[in-house]
Amino acid sequence: MNPLIFDTQSQKSDPKIIIALDFPNEKQTVEFVRQLNPNLCRLKIGKELFTATGASLVEKLMTQGFEIFLDLKFHDIPNTVANACRSAAELGVWLVDMHASGGKRMMEAAANAVANFQNRPKLIAVTVLTSMTADDLAEIGIQTPVQQQVLKLAQLAQHSDLDGIVCSAQEAALLRQQIGNDFLLVTPGIRPASNQTDDQRRTMTPLQAINAGSSYLVIGRPITQAKNPLQALMDINNSIQAG
Ligand code: C5P
Repeated sequence: MNPLIFDTQSQKSDPKIIIALDFPNEKQTVEFVRQLNPNLCRLKIGKELFTATGASLVEKLMTQGFEIFLDLKFHDIPNTVANACRSAAELGVWLVDMHASGGKRMMEAAANAVANFQNRPKLIAVTVLTSMTADDLAEIGIQTPVQQQVLKLAQLAQHSDLDGIVCSAQEAALLRQQIGNDFLLVTPGIRPASNQTDDQRRTMTPLQAINAGSSYLVIGRPITQAKNPLQALMDINNSIQAG
């Protein structure tokens, strides 16, 4: 068994790859997922697919043994986000995210809302969207340099009892230094060395990202568009193990 995808303490597989299910409907998603194995990956469902299919697809994929990252990036008043996270916990998902810019009270309310669930979802925060530049931040009244703002919001998430953040793998090493090891860093923008970069600009390979301190890697097109998705997934897992 690959030691990187097997947690010896819990005796459960702990795959590092989260596949982004960026499909428009249930049919295409189910056809794609049929080729995968839940011991080798987790799955991310975002706004597009969730809006089209709702919770029933999440339940269906969990029944097949997959752990789900519900990537809906909640951002609302504390009570509303807390209740949304409670609904996600009742659904039984593995990971849920929200915007750290919703503030400490919002994140604390979310953490409290799921605290008593036996298998509670892990809660992570989006700091600054990687699509945003310093100019975009200035437009919404934030003069702080992007990296400083990312760190500030990561620390706020940590002090609000969240389990981690979504960030660029490029920021992972710096964040690890500043916030320690006991915090999840979930990183998109990953491309195997052999792949095209698509519309991602500052990419890292899976092994570089893990070495920089990423806990889990969100990967979409290099697997979803591959001729043989299972082989692409296994190659990525092997590339991490080889390192
Ligand atoms: O296909 P690709 O590997 O680029 O997909 C990456 C996934 O991660 C997509 O679902 C994308 O929306 C998401 N994502 C990202 N960059 C972020 C946050 C999320 O690429 N900063």
